[in-house]
Amino acid sequence: MPLTSKYERYSKEELVKIIEDRDRKPKFGLVWERDDIEFDRSFNQDFVALDAIGELSCGVGPWSNLLIEGDNFDALRYLRMTHAGRIKCICIDPPYNTGNKDFIYNDRFVDKDDLYKHSKWLEFMYRRFLLARDLLAEDGVLLVCINDENRSKLELLLDQALPGMRIGSFTWRTKDTGNDAGGNFSQVHEHVLVYGGKEFSFNGKPLNTGKYRNPDNDPNGPWCADPITCNKTYKERANLYYPIQNPKTGYWYPCDPNRVWAFTSEKNLKADTKIRSETIEEFIRRNLIIFPECKPNAVMFFSTKEELLAAIRAGKGPVLPKKKTPLLKEDLSDLDFWVGKPIAKGRPSKKSYLQGKTKMFSPVSSWIAGINEDIDFLFDEDSEELELLRSQRGGEGTDAVSEILGTKAFNFPKPPSLIRNILRQATQSDDHVMDFFAGSGTTAQAVLELNREDDGNRRFILVSSTEATADEPEKNICRDVCAERVRRVINGYGTTAGTGGDFAYLRVRRIAHEAVLSDIDHSQVWTALQLIHRQSFAPYDATRQLQESLHADGGLIYAATINDEAVTRIVGLAADSPHLTVYTWQPGLLRERLAAQNITIEQIPQFLVSRFGVAS
Ligand SMILES: C[S@@+](CC[C@H](N)C(=O)[O-])C[C@H]1O[C@@H](n2cnc3c(N)ncnc32)[C@H](O)[C@@H]1O
Repeated sequence: MPLTSKYERYSKEELVKIIEDRDRKPKFGLVWERDDIEFDRSFNQDFVALDAIGELSCGVGPWSNLLIEGDNFDALRYLRMTHAGRIKCICIDPPYNTGNKDFIYNDRFVDKDDLYKHSKWLEFMYRRFLLARDLLAEDGVLLVCINDENRSKLELLLDQALPGMRIGSFTWRTKDTGNDAGGNFSQVHEHVLVYGGKEFSFNGKPLNTGKYRNPDNDPNGPWCADPITCNKTYKERANLYYPIQNPKTGYWYPCDPNRVWAFTSEKNLKADTKIRSETIEEFIRRNLIIFPECKPNAVMFFSTKEELLAAIRAGKGPVLPKKKTPLLKEDLSDLDFWVGKPIAKGRPSKKSYLQGKTKMFSPVSSWIAGINEDIDFLFDEDSEELELLRSQRGGEGTDAVSEILGTKAFNFPKPPSLIRNILRQATQSDDHVMDFFAGSGTTAQAVLELNREDDGNRRFILVSSTEATADEPEKNICRDVCAERVRRVINGYGTTAGTGGDFAYLRVRRIAHEAVLSDIDHSQVWTALQLIHRQSFAPYDATRQLQESLHADGGLIYAATINDEAVTRIVGLAADSPHLTVYTWQPGLLRERLAAQNITIEQIPQFLVSRFGVAS
């Protein structure tokens, strides 16, 4: 249909009014040429079924992990029927729209000369984000890898598709060296955008209890020494800028003019001031302030102001222990105070008890550090404890694929350590992890390795296209790269032991909505029912009268046909089970023959079609 057709019925005056109204309403957010681009043929209303391919699966079933071959638009629509609101973590690395044949739209690669390449990419991604959003659990998170060039577009798109869910982003270092892209700017970082539900939080890092000790047999138990400074200068908080004296030794400690004390002093309090915390004097009286040991010969002493000024000018005045930043400077107004006072080295700190502490440290967003990167600069004496994610550089991904498959079978796979460390933060032991741009299957490897490491039961759902095009109709990276890689990770390769695990290899099949009744087959129905109820599934057994999935809390039955044998079996199972849910094409017939209270009878295919969300 021509794109202008919707305006055909308007007169010229009406059209002018529409344009004026539109101009008056500037749109906030991202706009793309939705009406001008070729309609994406992957958007369709067909019913989607999954064919389980036993010979490409790993293990004989029941399978907990799924690898789905097909367009992710179809797979996502199917998973909305089976997994809506159940996925804890969706971690994707979509095509970046580099123009470098990384993105297929309507069976053709979108190249850099395509005038609508950005709009096609945004439209393609937007539709998938809307579906993905419905799969996320309340405490779920979507993590999206993207390069620097396309980050801004993708972020605005995500803001639109998942409003109010933006949490932030990580950056990670892709290369140790500069890159050879030319120009005067070496792009060596990429981003991971983070969008999450209200209840999502990263696992963080538990408190390091090892640093809590009790050398003085404190009745309150183990403690550690916390800094007593805050991130304010003496100009910003004049009342927190004062000298502290150790009452036992008489030594004095200057305040850092760039980071004043966190607690006020009684000397600076006015009669009616209300304070939120105790004063430093109170803490000292309660023996909570720890003064570092300072040998008498290390104590500084200046008899005259000239002596003090000379020391400051020579860089020999009191300084911060590690950074060596001067604590006393010529331009400070309190220099006279320090003449004739014993000035100790080191910084006073405060006892912080382990008792009652539950604090976790969230991962810092600014950088995912390299595995061997020196990050000591982040941990100065006053810094909070940090949780820094670590990742190898991009090349680790290529090395991993080459090592496992024996060839460099895939361009630019993500480093497994990056995905593993992100999942370590974003998931817990029994969570579902999904990647619907699976490529070579790095996410599955990361899930399997993480499970082995922490004895977890995370499950993965991967979706990968074949990457077949008109030019290469036989290409199938899902089968030949992704499935093969994950199989080898599970079973072991070279000298590397297998992680164990399984996956079902499933292939997307579209069925026209009006043909669902005739074209869907029993195995597809049974797969869907099990995934809806169990999130795992066993293969269809054509030799059995009923398909059964029996758990202690109830049974799931698929009765493809109803006859005496089927009814007898259902009655027998109901007697031994708290509850049975029986799916059948002939619910009326079954109801006539069953009297048991603990059986729910559901009709196929209405059940599937209505869950699938296709208007009938
Ligand atoms: C950047 S790669 C992902 C690489 C992956 N993270 C890895 O480490 O191997 C993007 C992948 O998405 C796949 N893809 C693109 N469009 C797709 C679609 N509509 N459905 C499923 N997969 C698609 C591409 O074939 C490509 O393999």
